Amino acid sequence: MSSIGAAAATRGAAAWSALRGGVPDSQPVVMQGDRPAGWWDLLPFTVHRIPLGGGLETATSDGVDPFTDVRTDLVVDACGGSLDGRTVVDLGCLEGGFTLALAERGAAHVVGIEARALSVERCELARALRGAERVEFVVADIKDELLRRDPFDVVFAAGILYHVGDPAEMLRIIRDSCREVALIDTHVAHPTIPTHGCSELVDLVSGGHSYRGRRFQEYEPDASASARDGYLWAAWSDSHAFWPLEEDLVEMITDAGFSSVEKVDMDVDDRRSRWQVDEINRVVYVVRP
Ligand SMILES: C[S@@+](CC[C@H](N)C(=O)[O-])C[C@H]1O[C@@H](n2cnc3c(N)ncnc32)[C@H](O)[C@@H]1O
Repeated sequence: MSSIGAAAATRGAAAWSALRGGVPDSQPVVMQGDRPAGWWDLLPFTVHRIPLGGGLETATSDGVDPFTDVRTDLVVDACGGSLDGRTVVDLGCLEGGFTLALAERGAAHVVGIEARALSVERCELARALRGAERVEFVVADIKDELLRRDPFDVVFAAGILYHVGDPAEMLRIIRDSCREVALIDTHVAHPTIPTHGCSELVDLVSGGHSYRGRRFQEYEPDASASARDGYLWAAWSDSHAFWPLEEDLVEMITDAGFSSVEKVDMDVDDRRSRWQVDEINRVVYVVRP
């Protein structure tokens, strides 16, 4: 076992011991090809720093703690201070931290949709380690999964819209899947400077509307399926994403049929310090049908 693997095993065993009273010999993840040999090999997570009790966490200290991140509170506040009784979907849930945090804020049922199977194994591990209930994780493309399900009360769309080639179409699907409120946390294109390696300004035509923004290359269009599997934070179905200008994002949101579009001011209270993201050209909107 590599030293990282050994460290992970120690962390994992300690985490399990702390919460379940013993190392779970009965909880192996079956090795298939390059899949992890044991649940402990899933640790540490790449980003989501999920508290496990006893000071243990699933990721290193530079990760994101979804239980204290401002986006979790923003959704709860938008629902009047509680998610009680609501259904929630977490789009592109990665390692499940926000899914679990939202479930623990009272939601009746939270579905985390994530394209990459390895990340969903981590979601399931985190769920087991926290003993979370009313949570479901699905390995799927967000578009396909939303189209085949009934609408949710709440749509949590953090760090996902900037990973799709046609965000206007995605927002129309989100609108059809949203009964009460959606949180959109995303990068937008800078009007004059192509940050993040983005293209020059281009137009996207979608749903009979034209929007200005920049293309962002996620990976080579001919990337192999296994390479794409390994880009754990990247787009799934689109090699190029489209980042609209902020005013065009607002147009997309209203064109999708949301009647209330409220930008969150991150300079209020301690919001910015609890927004654990790359803040360059990044915005958060709370929107309602
Ligand atoms: C930047 S990460 C954001 C993760 C998480 N929402 C957060 O805010 O911490 C983007 C995630 O979306 C997933 N993803 C990207 N495109 C997707 C798609 N079309 N369907 C499902 N998941 C997707 C990626 O695999 C990755 O886990």
